[in-house]
Amino acid sequence: MHRVGWFNERRSALAALSVLVLASCGGGSSDETGTAPPPVTQTTASAVGKAIFFDTSLSASGKQACGTCHVPTRAYTGDPTTDHGLPVPLGGPNMDQTGFRNAPSLVYASFTPPFSLTNGPTGGFFRDGRASSLATQAEQPFVTPFEMANQDAAEVVSRLLKSTATLQAFTAVYGEAVLDDPPAALEDMGLALAAYETEDPSFHPFSSKYDYWLQGQAQLTAQEQSGLDLFNNPVKGNCTACHPSQPQGYDSHALFTDFTYDNIGIPRNWQIPANTQDSVSPIDSAPLSTVITPVDVPNDAEYRYYDMGLCGPFKSATDDPDARVDLSQTTGMCGMFKVPTLRNIAITAPYFHNGNFQNLHQVLEWYVTRDINNNTANNPNPVAAGPGGNPYMAIGTFYLSATGTPDLDEYNDLPADYDANVNVGEVPYTPPTFGGGQAPTLTAQEIDDIVAFLCTLTDGFDPTSPSAYNVPAQCAPIASTSTTQGISR
Ligand code: HEC
Ligand code: HEC
Repeated sequence: MHRVGWFNERRSALAALSVLVLASCGGGSSDETGTAPPPVTQTTASAVGKAIFFDTSLSASGKQACGTCHVPTRAYTGDPTTDHGLPVPLGGPNMDQTGFRNAPSLVYASFTPPFSLTNGPTGGFFRDGRASSLATQAEQPFVTPFEMANQDAAEVVSRLLKSTATLQAFTAVYGEAVLDDPPAALEDMGLALAAYETEDPSFHPFSSKYDYWLQGQAQLTAQEQSGLDLFNNPVKGNCTACHPSQPQGYDSHALFTDFTYDNIGIPRNWQIPANTQDSVSPIDSAPLSTVITPVDVPNDAEYRYYDMGLCGPFKSATDDPDARVDLSQTTGMCGMFKVPTLRNIAITAPYFHNGNFQNLHQVLEWYVTRDINNNTANNPNPVAAGPGGNPYMAIGTFYLSATGTPDLDEYNDLPADYDANVNVGEVPYTPPTFGGGQAPTLTAQEIDDIVAFLCTLTDGFDPTSPSAYNVPAQCAPIASTSTTQGISR
C-alpha cells in the first residue's frame, strides 16, 4: 500500500488562503521505506475552523460546540456520558432537548463524494446525504433548535463578536466587513470548519493496526486474520460488499464505506424520545419543543414517528442550493441510510443511526440472525437457540415493542408498507433461500473473529509500542474460544 493520497487536491481547494506548513503529527506513521510521511499543508482557515469547532460560547446554551457531540478521543462521535446515556445528543438553550440520530464519526468524512443518484444513492453529508458539502453541513448545527440553537445567522455572529480569540482568528482570515452580513459570515464559518475537518491530520490519520499491517509493520493475530478473511468472504461476512476493505478511488486507502445507501431493517430504539412521542425531556421534564412533525408516514403505520433516512423527516437546508432534492415521495428509498465507515468502530458505540446496539457482538449477532430469529413472516420455522441450532439469541431479542416485549412484526423501525424495501437478498442477512438452509452465515466463533478484526481498525497504533494500543473492553480476546477457530461454541 503506497501512501500517495496523504494530501489530495480536494483538501487544498477549500481554502487557499495563507498557508502554513506543519510537520505531520497525525498518525506518526511512516511509509514503506521507513521515512516520515510528507508534511501536511494546512491553511490558516483550518486553524479558524478548529477554534470555532471547540468554542462553546457560540451556542445558545453556552455549553455546546461541534466538539461536544464530536469528541476527538471518540473518533469525533458523541459521548454517551455527556448525553445522559441517551443514544442521541442533547442540545437546545437549556441542554435538555433531545436529538433524533446518533452522531457519526467525522474521521474520514472529508472523503465523502457529493450526493448522486446516478448509480443508486451515493454520497452527501448527514446520514441521509441532505447537505452538499462539509461547508454547508457545518452551518446547520448553529441554528438547529435541538443542537446549538441560535435563532439565525445574526445570533451566531452576535456570539462570535463576543468571543475574542475566535473572533480575532476569524477576522484575520475573512476580514471584518463580512460580519455586517451574517449569512455570509456564517458561510465563511462553514468554510473554515470544512477546512479544519479536511486538513487536520486527526481527521485522516490512517494509523490503525490494520494500516501498519498492510505496510508490513504490524502482525495480525490468527484470530484477527481469520476475521479479515470472514469480513471479505462473500458467503460468510460479506461485509466488504458495503464496507470495502479495498480502496475504491476516494483515496489510496480503504475507507470501509462505499458511501452508498442501504435499508438494513434495524430495530426501533425506544430510548429515542421521538420514537415514543414523549412530549417532555427525560432530563428535566421541560417541554420538548423540538419534536418534529412526522412527514409522509403512511396512514396505517403503527407509530406516528419514523426516521426514514433518505425519505425524511429531515429536508435539505433552503440555503444549500446543491443539496440533494427531496426524496420523500420516492418511497422505494424509505429507510435507506448512508453506509458508515468501520474505521475506529471499536471506540464509537452505540451503533447505527439510531444507536440501538451497545457493542459489536450484538451488531454481528443481529446481522446474521435478523431473518432467522425474529422475522416470522420470512421464516415460519425459526431455528431454536442452543447447540446445533442457532447459537445466539432467542426469538424476539432484538425487535422489541415499547413495553419491552418481543415485537414479532418484521422491521419495526419502518412503516409496514415499506418492509419490502429492506435488503433481504444479501449475505450476511442469511436469506432463507441461502444454501445451507436456516443456519446463520457466521458461527459464534466466527463472530468473535470478525469483532477481533474490527478492533484493528482503531487509529493510533504505534509499531514501536504495540502494547500501548487502545484495546477497549469489547476487544479483549475471549479466552475460552480463541484457540478453536471455526468451531461453533
Ligand atoms: C448536538 C450534537 C451535535 C452538534 C453540536 C454538532 N453535531 Fe454534527 N452531527 C450530529 C448528529 C446527530 C449528526 C447526524 C445527523 C443526521 O444525519 O441527520 C451529525 C452529523 C455531522 C456531519 C455529517 C457526517 C457524515 O459523514 O455525513 C458532520 C460533517 C458534522 N456533523 C459536523 C459538525 C460540525 C462542524 C459541527 C459544529 C458546527 C457539528 N457537527 C455540531 C450531532 C451534532
Ligand atoms: C448490504 C450492505 C451492508 C453489508 C453487507 C454490511 N453492512 Fe454494515 N452497515 C450498512 C449500512 C447501510 C449501515 C448503516 C445503517 C444505519 O445506520 O441505519 C451499516 C452499519 C454498520 C455498523 C454500525 C456503524 C456505526 O458507525 O454505527 C457496523 C458495526 C457494521 N455495519 C458492521 C458490518 C459488518 C461487520 C458486516 C459484515 C458482517 C456488515 N456491516 C455488512 C450496510 C451493510
